[in-house]
Amino acid sequence: MIHSEELKDIVNPVSGKTLTEESRWTNVEKKEDKVLVEFKRDGIDPANKRKIEDQIYTALSSSYEEDNIFVKSISADSSDVAKKVDKSKPSPTQPMAQDNATLKVGHGTVGQKKRVANVDKVIAISSCKGGVGKSTFTANLALSLSRLGKKVGILDADIYGPSMPMILGKRGAKPQATEDKKIKPIEAHGVSFISFGLFIGEDDPVIWRGPMLGGVLNQFLFDVEWGSLDYLLIDLPPGTGDMQLSMVQTTEVDGAIIISTPQSVALADTRKGMKMFDQVKVPIVGMVENMSFFIPEDMPDKKYYIFGENGVKNTAKELDVKFLGEIPLQTDLRQASDSGNPFMSDEKNSSSLAFENYMKSAGEIDKILSGEKKEGFFKKLFK
Ligand SMILES: Nc1ncnc2c1ncn2[C@@H]1O[C@H](COP(=O)(O)OP(=O)(O)OP(=O)(O)O)[C@@H](O)[C@H]1O
Ligand SMILES: [Mg+2]
Repeated sequence: MIHSEELKDIVNPVSGKTLTEESRWTNVEKKEDKVLVEFKRDGIDPANKRKIEDQIYTALSSSYEEDNIFVKSISADSSDVAKKVDKSKPSPTQPMAQDNATLKVGHGTVGQKKRVANVDKVIAISSCKGGVGKSTFTANLALSLSRLGKKVGILDADIYGPSMPMILGKRGAKPQATEDKKIKPIEAHGVSFISFGLFIGEDDPVIWRGPMLGGVLNQFLFDVEWGSLDYLLIDLPPGTGDMQLSMVQTTEVDGAIIISTPQSVALADTRKGMKMFDQVKVPIVGMVENMSFFIPEDMPDKKYYIFGENGVKNTAKELDVKFLGEIPLQTDLRQASDSGNPFMSDEKNSSSLAFENYMKSAGEIDKILSGEKKEGFFKKLFK
């Protein structure tokens, strides 16, 4: 039986018994100044799971810094909340969250994840389905973060339908090379961006396939002179295919935001997406709902849930991830994207609900990511 003196009094609020009495500890591993604690969470709801985690943090706080305490819960009947420890590796086995993860790439070669130089946080914006407003959200989130005083870049990794040049009003712009042969990103509305769309003609057939993609994407990450950024947002193509995997496998991504509309959110797809990020140790920052409702301009007291009500909010709850906000369906938001003057770049929209909600979401996302040390954000990693 696993025994740790500091943890002997941790109580399961559901039963009132200690986790030791219930034989819930599956692993307690101490390595230098870090500690990993694992317990079985079967029958414990998310709110009570958090209470247990808080007790664990408190119990270990006198011996370990909060950032060095990693708590993981395991559930036999719910694969979305935990990944089993790989017992096949020699002990101490579990990669600690702050170690550089190494992954098997291709045929058994071990690749080291690389960080994008001078970029504080690399965030992947992901959706399980296409057409849910991911690119619109990425662009407007970037502008909202920029309004909060952050320096932001956008990497449009969508090779199939790169829409960032259009949304940001830079169709036809050609990125220049710097003296040391790096690519200069294009500046638009106070953010810098790079996109496949800047390198291929709009009507060119997409000829990037398989391995080429990884190469080009790598170039976008590491050969673009991003300068110093608070956030680099990556607009991923929809789904969980090779492109998404290759990016998160080779780059240190600090978090992923999943976006969906209320009706196209499917638990199974979202779980799959989360699993992909989980496997490559990218924490999920949370989920955003786009096109949540429609309020007609001439009937401001009416609210229509055109694509259903609270679909994403409920899914986030079910999957125990943060809900990061809801963006209404607004005609002017779409028009702004089509015209190349994105909604959040224009002060005249500031009295609109979409503007307000974008700022709220950006504030929440920034709070989570910049406050991650304080809040022990990395505990999410093993959730
Ligand atoms: N909240 C919104 N209100 C109104 N229109 C929106 C909203 N969000 C996105 N749109 C519009 O919906 C369409 C699809 O959005 P967008 O291109 O951002 O989706 P996407 O998920 O990136 O799509 P793809 O999978 O093709 O990359 C665009 O015309 C966009 O202007
Ligand atoms: Mg898109």
